[in-house]
Amino acid sequence: MKFIGVRIIQNDPAKAAARLSQKLNLACRQDGADYVVDVPGCEIRFTKGGIGPAQEAQEGYYVGLQHLAFNSTDLAASVRKCLEHGTELTNGEAISYNPKIWGTGMNYVNPVCPDGYGLEICQRLDLPAAEMSGMTAGMEHIGIPVRNLEESIAWYEQLGFKAGTIVLNHRDSDNADIHCAMLEGDGVILETYEFEHMDHEPFVNQPFHALRFAGEKNAVLTGPNGETVEVIAA
Ligand SMILES: [Fe+2]
Repeated sequence: MKFIGVRIIQNDPAKAAARLSQKLNLACRQDGADYVVDVPGCEIRFTKGGIGPAQEAQEGYYVGLQHLAFNSTDLAASVRKCLEHGTELTNGEAISYNPKIWGTGMNYVNPVCPDGYGLEICQRLDLPAAEMSGMTAGMEHIGIPVRNLEESIAWYEQLGFKAGTIVLNHRDSDNADIHCAMLEGDGVILETYEFEHMDHEPFVNQPFHALRFAGEKNAVLTGPNGETVEVIAA
């Protein structure tokens, strides 16, 4: 299989696609009834669907496809470009640090997104920094909060993904303990993470609907967190 992109369901796909396109300075086009934002190597497809307004919930209270993370090789420059462009970030100029991931951690910021999915721009600290011409340099990973990390890893392994080391991070800002594993395969990286002490039944994040792959034959699979995986015959 080869990663094609993602599908996001919106009541007004034109508006949501235009909003993402504007925020990150990426091209947007219409494709039939869908609207597509093109990222180098993949696409973000917005499809009309009957979902209610995006649920406002704290992290740890929902599972399924959650955020799109875009790569930066110079995050300070990306932040500067975002602010010059008028792209609001949840923490202003402040850069957050996720330790341990990829061995040396990752710096990240979150552009504000009101459409029921999250946005992140991140810089891996195990890779060399480099100048960038744009705000971002392609897709870095897809974030998936999960019910059970081992179960999710096993499910994605049978699709051909390989899991990195599971790391445990404590986040001071909300006192959360988060187990996380990066899964690599099929042309995409998945960031799967499980909140410890989740003592309630989480709901499935609806607007961020599907991961999409080109494969041998058409198939629609449902993952262990309610996420959809679409395989389209190449
Ligand atoms: Fe992430």
